[in-house]
Amino acid sequence: MPAMAHVFVTRKLPFPALERLRAAHDVHEWPGELPPGPDDMRAHAREADALLTLVTDPVGADVLDAAPALKAIANMAVGTDNIDVEAAAARGIAVGNTPDVLTDATADLAFALLLALARRIVPGAAKVRAGEWRTWEPAGDLGADLAGATLGIVGWGRIGQAVARRADGFGMEVVHSSRSSGVPFDELLGRADFVSVHTPLTPETRHLIGTDALARMKPTALLVNTSRGGVVDQDALRAALHAGEIAGAALDVTEPEPLPADHPLLDAPSLLVVPHVGSATVRTRARMAEMAVENLLAALDERPMPHPVA
Ligand code: DGY
Repeated sequence: MPAMAHVFVTRKLPFPALERLRAAHDVHEWPGELPPGPDDMRAHAREADALLTLVTDPVGADVLDAAPALKAIANMAVGTDNIDVEAAAARGIAVGNTPDVLTDATADLAFALLLALARRIVPGAAKVRAGEWRTWEPAGDLGADLAGATLGIVGWGRIGQAVARRADGFGMEVVHSSRSSGVPFDELLGRADFVSVHTPLTPETRHLIGTDALARMKPTALLVNTSRGGVVDQDALRAALHAGEIAGAALDVTEPEPLPADHPLLDAPSLLVVPHVGSATVRTRARMAEMAVENLLAALDERPMPHPVA
């Protein structure tokens, strides 16, 4: 490995950790506000010994093939579905991510979305701004109680368990379903008043929340997804919301991202979509950048990454 390795960072990262990387290596930061497209990605990877990537950057076999010197990829995310990890491993390229550090921020957001749906925060605020709030209505703007309600958590990793701890504080009953523990998925769907999705996107979980799953949910149920857009079949969700098969949904993640403003999903009733902000707190993003830099510095020093993707 050259003393000064060539590192391509796919976006401007205004975090102190980048100083450490710049001090040690020859760092080229993509200057655009938007991610590099596939051609730019391949062109920059061609020169690179290492990449610092984000969830917005697909790193498939095409990018890896274009990058003969590539030794390491540090994804500034816990999810790595944007990277062909198997193809990287087959080429001896180390891949690292940023686990743990965003657990609380993401669990907080899942809970914020759950509360927003339950208490109709967004339509209520819109009504006030539109001058349509006429009086305190005895039977208007009614939402759902959390205390005593059942929260179904799909996936029982760090973030799912952090959401469960929050639910406990709100007096909810929690059931979960995962590959290795909890209740059967169908049972969870039938019992839950709220369903919160915390499973990584894999070929097995793609469209896990589809027509069948949505039909099994209660018509009063509310769905929250802060994992990956592909876990929910958006056409099925749109149909279920229009048909009143479930009462509402809040998505931090969609397919595609960003979701175009004229996307058909956005005409569905009782739908709240926010722009993939699960980890978007000042402290969490700074720590994610640190972890990504730690991964790169280790790999470029021919040491194991401290946060490798298993
Ligand atoms: C992740 O880390 O995988 C999030 O989706 C982005 O922070």
